[in-house]
Amino acid sequence: MEFRATRPPTASHKTGAFVLFRAEQSRDLGRLPVPDTVLRKLAAAAWKAKEFTGKRGQVVALHGGAGGRRLLLVGLGPRKGVDGEALREGAGNAALDLDGRGVSSATFLVPALGDAVDLAGACVEGAGLALYRFDRLKSKAPKPALGRVTVAPERGTAPSVTAPVKRAAAVMEGVRFARDLGNLPGNIATPVYLAREARTLSGRGVSVRVHDRAAIKRMRMGAFAAVAQGSHNEPRLIEITYRCGKRGAETIGLVGKGVTFDTGGISIKPAALMEEMKFDMCGGAAVLGAVHALRALQLPVNVHALVPASDNMPDGKAYRPGDIIKARNGTTIEVISTDAEGRLLLCDSLVYSADKKPDCIINLATLTGAIVVALGDSAAGLFSNDDALLEELEEAGRETGERLWPMPILPGHDEAIKSPYSDLRNSGGRWGGACTAAAFLQNFVGDTPWAHLDIAGTAWNDRPRSYLRKGATGFGVRLLVEFLARRA
Ligand code: BES
Ligand code: MN
Ligand code: ZN
Repeated sequence: MEFRATRPPTASHKTGAFVLFRAEQSRDLGRLPVPDTVLRKLAAAAWKAKEFTGKRGQVVALHGGAGGRRLLLVGLGPRKGVDGEALREGAGNAALDLDGRGVSSATFLVPALGDAVDLAGACVEGAGLALYRFDRLKSKAPKPALGRVTVAPERGTAPSVTAPVKRAAAVMEGVRFARDLGNLPGNIATPVYLAREARTLSGRGVSVRVHDRAAIKRMRMGAFAAVAQGSHNEPRLIEITYRCGKRGAETIGLVGKGVTFDTGGISIKPAALMEEMKFDMCGGAAVLGAVHALRALQLPVNVHALVPASDNMPDGKAYRPGDIIKARNGTTIEVISTDAEGRLLLCDSLVYSADKKPDCIINLATLTGAIVVALGDSAAGLFSNDDALLEELEEAGRETGERLWPMPILPGHDEAIKSPYSDLRNSGGRWGGACTAAAFLQNFVGDTPWAHLDIAGTAWNDRPRSYLRKGATGFGVRLLVEFLARRA
């Protein structure tokens, strides 16, 4: 997919289709700013006949423009509700519709509602996210039809959309990178594979170091090593630093759970839907996707990113319930469930991250089924020990449509993960499972401002939803880039 930006198109503009967005009760539906006389008349007729009303989800195609140009009228819903997310959804609908019709190029006209710059980015995101396909493992896959999307303001008075279109297009590449990694199955996307993919990000300020099993042990990451000891696939701790070169720039620590397949280990999961546990590295994929975008955009922040990558398997060598293991900071942990493995590889990584003295740490993980029970797929759970950081992340979530919802860590949650035999145990039982998991992690960040995003409900779709089809969503990439851009 190629994205371009131009000035408002004139009558001679060549395109397969103009795409025009309108809210309900727009006042100009009878005289839309389309640079084609025939299409303008057809649009007025469609409006008069009430075939296009601006209802959310509505897409009306009109044929007969000069040079075979079409016009797609796309509804944004009630005027008051129009925001980036409505436009993303509309642009996604339009892109899928055009692609289905075999149209190869289209010009999206950014409506003069709110911030034209934000809305231009939303157009690119909606189209880019909706058109993403994971078909590299199909022996015969049809080529997508829609190959070029041009974004232009509707009217000459609007500011140029070149910068936001470029930026959103770069972010889309990062999201694609993350979604591909998420969708790849456990037999391909092993820890070694993830490390190799991470290495492709080297250069332009990014350096990548990869630690193997021996190094993980040497680094006293006993919890991470315990999870990894049951798999014949070698674990990897992927460490990425991005240096922007600007003096006094902040350093943000990122940590992403990279469980390449989670069987549950000896506390094995039921068979139904276990295949979905290939997505258990989506936190790690989001971190890698964010670095991908950050590098393309050369944002003036420093990042220290970690992706602890391992399978979680049952095996003769696997760790067992009852085992007591020791984390990098000396904390001893009783293993109650080998299926609560995410917090174990994260806790060692968080200690290591905090050792680097970043200004804050953000970790992303498909950590608990409990957060899916609590929030479904509408938002990721947000836990933090720092109110300002929490609010910044919430705001980035609202801006990008990758919504976060604040969740508490209460004294009772800390109580639930105490063990009679060791400092902590790795499961607090069923109740408040997302909160006790967060309480566990909090023990490993010291006083570094920290936020934990439990993305178990948002990292992949089990059915097509809005502009994201079934499979990995890349959740977190857009959010992290937005957060980093604001910090820069
Ligand atoms: N990767 C899972 C969490 C998960 C489950 C994500 C379902 C998405 C959908 C995690 O490793 C896990 O198994 N968590 C357990 C923790 C429990 C044993 C304390 C869970 O949520 O049941
Ligand atoms: Mn698990
Ligand atoms: Zn897991």
